[in-house]
Amino acid sequence: MTDILVAKDISKTYFDTVAKDDVVALSGVSLSVAAHDFVSVIGPSGCGKSTFLRIVAGLDTPTSGEILVSGKKVSGPGADRGMVFQEYALLPWKTTETNIEFGLRLKGIPKDERRKIAHRFIELVGLKGFEKKYPHQLSGGMRQRAAVARVLANNPTVLLMDEPFAAVDAMTRQRLQEELTAIAASERTTVLFVTHAIEEAVFLSNRVVALSGRPGKVIADIRIDLPRPRRWEELVRDQRFIAYRDELTRCIHGNAPVHGNHA
Ligand SMILES: Nc1ncnc2c1ncn2[C@@H]1O[C@H](COP(=O)(O)OP(=O)(O)OP(=O)(O)O)[C@@H](O)[C@H]1O
Ligand SMILES: [Mg+2]
Repeated sequence: MTDILVAKDISKTYFDTVAKDDVVALSGVSLSVAAHDFVSVIGPSGCGKSTFLRIVAGLDTPTSGEILVSGKKVSGPGADRGMVFQEYALLPWKTTETNIEFGLRLKGIPKDERRKIAHRFIELVGLKGFEKKYPHQLSGGMRQRAAVARVLANNPTVLLMDEPFAAVDAMTRQRLQEELTAIAASERTTVLFVTHAIEEAVFLSNRVVALSGRPGKVIADIRIDLPRPRRWEELVRDQRFIAYRDELTRCIHGNAPVHGNHA
């Protein structure tokens, strides 16, 4: 399989203006993501997960190292990388459909076609009937569905997600996770997902990469061999799911290196 996304030896040092000292957020993180793969990055709070994703998105620059997407060096944000944030990803003055059409409008796609694409994704994320609503008229879960639809409508090469379901309740969160796995499979999307929730990472991914506490370094890279479609009801009782979860928990809390079986 071809690697769509390659991160080469990424390090990031911030200067803390209050403490007047350097903060090393990431140290030599290398990671390749194959086309159509679903990869999660996990690690404790403050280990540099968001920093890493922002660097991949081109919203921040690494102190050293480089990111390649489809073989091209990243030098800023681009439509080939769609980002879904933890919250506030929608424009509050636009309806669901005009939010989803926003990126398509920037690309110069004519109105009729835009609307057709928007409606396909509205249906895909289960928001039919809410096309004309504004973000404040939607629940938190619905807003995140709209945010996912908005990014998918732009047909990105890689979908970048930074704890996109952290702000919704547990039940909605499980539903959104199940839907995301189904959508990623049907759309053959390549996903790089960041979370500090180990179970979420195992549930969603084909591969989980764990970072150590700050500065973030890769301490585990594990292939998740669980059948799809995945359903919470079945997986919580699945011995393989439990074994992956326990292995990653030990690794993160014990910081012991784990040698995964990924290719
Ligand atoms: N713009 C910035 N200026 C200075 N320091 C920063 C900046 N952004 C992040 N940091 C520092 O870099 C480190 C990594 O932050 P980051 O937000 O990437 O962590 P994270 O793994 O996403 O954490 P969380 O799980 O809490 O979201 C932290 O110590 C943070 O304080
Ligand atoms: Mg973060």
